[in-house]
Amino acid sequence: MSSPNRLDLKLRAAQRAIDLVSPGMTVGLGSGSTATLWIRLLGEQVRDRGLTIRAVASSEDSEHLARSFGIPIVALEESRQLDLTVDGADEIAPGLALIKGGGGKLLREKIVASATKRFVIVADDSKVVDKLGNHPLPVEVIHMAAPLVKHSLQELGFQVALRRNVDGSPYITDEGNLLFDCSGLLIDDPPRLAAILDGTVGLVEHGLFLGMASLALIAGEDGVVERKS
Ligand code: 5RP
Repeated sequence: MSSPNRLDLKLRAAQRAIDLVSPGMTVGLGSGSTATLWIRLLGEQVRDRGLTIRAVASSEDSEHLARSFGIPIVALEESRQLDLTVDGADEIAPGLALIKGGGGKLLREKIVASATKRFVIVADDSKVVDKLGNHPLPVEVIHMAAPLVKHSLQELGFQVALRRNVDGSPYITDEGNLLFDCSGLLIDDPPRLAAILDGTVGLVEHGLFLGMASLALIAGEDGVVERKS
C-alpha cells in the first residue's frame, strides 16, 4: 500500500476538525490549502446536510469559497465572539507556538483567531518543528514604513525579502499592505521576538501566533494525533 501524500494528510486533519462543529456555532474560516479543504468539508455539511452555522472569513479567498457552498458569512460587527476557528499553520512548535502567514493572510487570520474561544490548527506532520524559524516569518508592513521596518528586522539578524507575485510586482495583502518574509534565524525566544515586533512602528502584524491555539490536529502516516497547548 502506498503512503498517503501531503494533500491526503491535510484532508485527514481537516476531516477530524469537522467533529468539533455543532449547529448554531459561529465559525472562523482560516486560509491556505488545509483550511480550504476544511471549508469544503464544512460547506458540504451546510449545503447537503442542513448544518446551520455562520462564519467569519480570514481572507477574500476563503469568503468566496464559503459563499459558493451557501455558508452564511457575517462580519465581526454582527458576531464579536466566535465559537471555533480552524486554520492551517506553517510551523508548529512545542506549546503550539506557530508561524503562520505563508499564504499572506496573517493579519486577518490573527484577528479572527483572537476573537475565538477555541482556535484549532489542522496540518500534516511536516509542519511540526522543535524550534520556529526554518520557515520564513511573514511580517506585514505599511508601505511608507517599509524601509524603516526592513532595517529593524535586519538589525535583529533576519534576511528580509519583499514578497512578490509571479510577475515580479509586490504582493499586496487583503488590507493593502506589503509583506516581508524574514529568514535565516532560528527563534530561541518567540515571546521576546513577538514583543519587539509588536513594538515596531509601521509593522502591522507578524506571523508569530503564540498562546492562541488550544489544539492541533496533526495528520501523519499512522493517523491524526492531537496536540494540546
Ligand atoms: C496562510 C496561512 C496558512 O494557514 C499556512 O500558510 C499553511 O498553509 P497550508 O495549509 O497551505 O500548508 O497561514 O496565511
